[in-house]
Amino acid sequence: MKKVACMLISVAAVSLMAADGEAIYKSKCFSCHGDKASKAALNKSQIIAGWDVSKIVGSVNGYKNGEGGPMKNVMKPIATALSDDDLKAVATAIASYK
Ligand code: HEC
Repeated sequence: MKKVACMLISVAAVSLMAADGEAIYKSKCFSCHGDKASKAALNKSQIIAGWDVSKIVGSVNGYKNGEGGPMKNVMKPIATALSDDDLKAVATAIASYK
Protein backbone atom coordinates (compact mmCIF):
# COMPACT_ATOMS: atom_id res chain seq x y z
CA MET A 1 0.00 0.00 0.00
CA LYS A 2 2.74 2.38 0.96
CA LYS A 3 4.36 1.88 -2.42
CA VAL A 4 1.11 2.67 -4.25
CA ALA A 5 0.67 5.90 -2.29
CA CYS A 6 4.22 6.89 -3.16
CA MET A 7 3.63 6.26 -6.83
CA LEU A 8 0.46 8.34 -6.81
CA ILE A 9 2.29 11.20 -5.14
CA SER A 10 5.10 11.12 -7.66
CA VAL A 11 2.66 11.05 -10.57
CA ALA A 12 0.96 14.14 -9.13
CA ALA A 13 4.33 15.82 -8.65
CA VAL A 14 5.33 15.10 -12.24
CA SER A 15 2.21 16.70 -13.64
CA LEU A 16 2.72 19.75 -11.44
CA MET A 17 6.29 20.00 -12.61
CA ALA A 18 5.24 19.86 -16.22
CA ALA A 19 3.70 23.31 -15.76
CA ASP A 20 6.93 24.59 -14.26
CA GLY A 21 8.88 23.03 -17.09
CA GLU A 22 7.08 25.23 -19.55
CA ALA A 23 8.12 28.31 -17.56
CA ILE A 24 11.70 27.08 -17.25
CA TYR A 25 11.81 26.45 -20.99
CA LYS A 26 10.59 29.96 -21.77
CA SER A 27 13.01 31.67 -19.42
CA LYS A 28 16.13 29.52 -19.93
CA CYS A 29 15.99 27.69 -23.25
CA PHE A 30 13.63 29.54 -25.58
CA SER A 31 16.14 32.22 -26.58
CA CYS A 32 18.31 29.66 -28.36
CA HIS A 33 16.15 26.60 -28.97
CA GLY A 34 13.24 28.66 -30.28
CA ASP A 35 9.48 28.35 -30.10
CA LYS A 36 8.57 24.86 -28.84
CA ALA A 37 12.19 23.75 -29.29
CA SER A 38 11.67 23.80 -33.05
CA LYS A 39 14.94 25.51 -33.97
CA ALA A 40 18.54 24.44 -34.09
CA ALA A 41 20.09 26.46 -31.25
CA LEU A 42 22.61 28.94 -32.70
CA ASN A 43 22.09 26.97 -35.93
CA LYS A 44 24.16 24.19 -34.42
CA SER A 45 22.15 21.91 -32.17
CA GLN A 46 19.82 19.19 -33.22
CA ILE A 47 16.13 20.04 -33.03
CA ILE A 48 15.14 18.69 -29.64
CA ALA A 49 11.34 19.04 -29.81
CA GLY A 50 9.70 15.71 -29.07
CA TRP A 51 12.87 14.00 -27.86
CA ASP A 52 12.26 11.43 -25.13
CA VAL A 53 12.55 12.81 -21.61
CA SER A 54 15.37 10.37 -20.88
CA LYS A 55 17.28 11.41 -23.99
CA ILE A 56 17.04 15.11 -23.06
CA VAL A 57 18.00 14.48 -19.44
CA GLY A 58 20.90 12.28 -20.52
CA SER A 59 22.13 14.80 -23.03
CA VAL A 60 21.92 17.77 -20.61
CA ASN A 61 23.64 15.76 -17.88
CA GLY A 62 26.32 14.95 -20.43
CA TYR A 63 27.01 18.67 -20.82
CA LYS A 64 27.43 18.94 -17.05
CA ASN A 65 30.13 16.30 -17.34
CA GLY A 66 31.86 18.00 -20.25
CA GLU A 67 30.38 15.83 -23.00
CA GLY A 68 28.57 17.07 -26.09
CA GLY A 69 29.17 18.44 -29.53
CA PRO A 70 31.38 21.27 -30.81
CA MET A 71 29.27 23.92 -29.05
CA LYS A 72 29.09 22.08 -25.74
CA ASN A 73 30.62 25.02 -23.86
CA VAL A 74 27.45 26.99 -24.56
CA MET A 75 25.30 24.35 -22.88
CA LYS A 76 27.59 23.52 -19.96
CA PRO A 77 26.79 26.52 -17.70
CA ILE A 78 23.09 26.22 -18.55
CA ALA A 79 23.10 22.51 -17.71
CA THR A 80 25.05 23.07 -14.51
CA ALA A 81 22.58 25.70 -13.33
CA LEU A 82 19.59 23.34 -13.61
CA SER A 83 18.60 21.23 -10.61
CA ASP A 84 17.65 17.62 -11.30
CA ASP A 85 13.99 18.47 -10.69
CA ASP A 86 14.10 21.47 -13.03
CA LEU A 87 15.84 19.40 -15.67
CA LYS A 88 13.21 16.69 -15.47
CA ALA A 89 10.44 19.28 -15.65
CA VAL A 90 11.87 21.13 -18.63
CA ALA A 91 12.66 17.86 -20.40
CA THR A 92 9.04 16.80 -19.93
CA ALA A 93 7.89 20.06 -21.48
CA ILE A 94 10.26 19.71 -24.45
CA ALA A 95 9.21 16.08 -24.99
CA SER A 96 5.62 17.29 -25.29
CA TYR A 97 6.50 19.76 -28.08
CA LYS A 98 5.76 18.02 -31.33
C1 HEC B 1 22.79 30.29 -25.37
C2 HEC B 1 22.02 29.42 -26.23
C3 HEC B 1 21.38 28.18 -25.60
C4 HEC B 1 20.49 28.12 -24.55
C5 HEC B 1 19.94 29.29 -23.73
C6 HEC B 1 20.16 26.72 -24.39
N1 HEC B 1 20.81 25.96 -25.29
FE1 HEC B 1 20.69 23.92 -25.48
N2 HEC B 1 22.07 23.98 -26.97
C7 HEC B 1 22.67 25.13 -27.47
C8 HEC B 1 23.68 24.74 -28.45
C9 HEC B 1 24.58 25.69 -29.25
C10 HEC B 1 23.66 23.33 -28.50
C11 HEC B 1 24.59 22.40 -29.32
C12 HEC B 1 25.78 22.10 -28.41
C13 HEC B 1 26.70 21.03 -28.91
O1 HEC B 1 27.46 21.29 -29.86
O2 HEC B 1 26.67 19.92 -28.34
C14 HEC B 1 22.62 22.90 -27.59
C15 HEC B 1 22.26 21.57 -27.39
C16 HEC B 1 21.25 21.13 -26.56
C17 HEC B 1 20.83 19.76 -26.44
C18 HEC B 1 21.38 18.58 -27.21
C19 HEC B 1 21.03 18.68 -28.66
C20 HEC B 1 22.13 18.16 -29.53
O3 HEC B 1 22.35 18.78 -30.59
O4 HEC B 1 22.76 17.16 -29.17
C21 HEC B 1 19.82 19.73 -25.52
C22 HEC B 1 19.03 18.51 -25.07
C23 HEC B 1 19.64 21.09 -25.06
N3 HEC B 1 20.53 21.90 -25.71
C24 HEC B 1 18.74 21.46 -24.11
C25 HEC B 1 18.62 22.76 -23.61
C26 HEC B 1 17.77 23.11 -22.50
C27 HEC B 1 16.87 22.13 -21.77
C28 HEC B 1 17.93 24.45 -22.30
C29 HEC B 1 17.28 25.30 -21.22
C30 HEC B 1 17.44 24.85 -19.86
C31 HEC B 1 18.90 24.93 -23.27
N4 HEC B 1 19.30 23.88 -24.03
C32 HEC B 1 19.30 26.24 -23.40
C33 HEC B 1 22.37 26.43 -27.12
C34 HEC B 1 21.58 26.81 -26.06
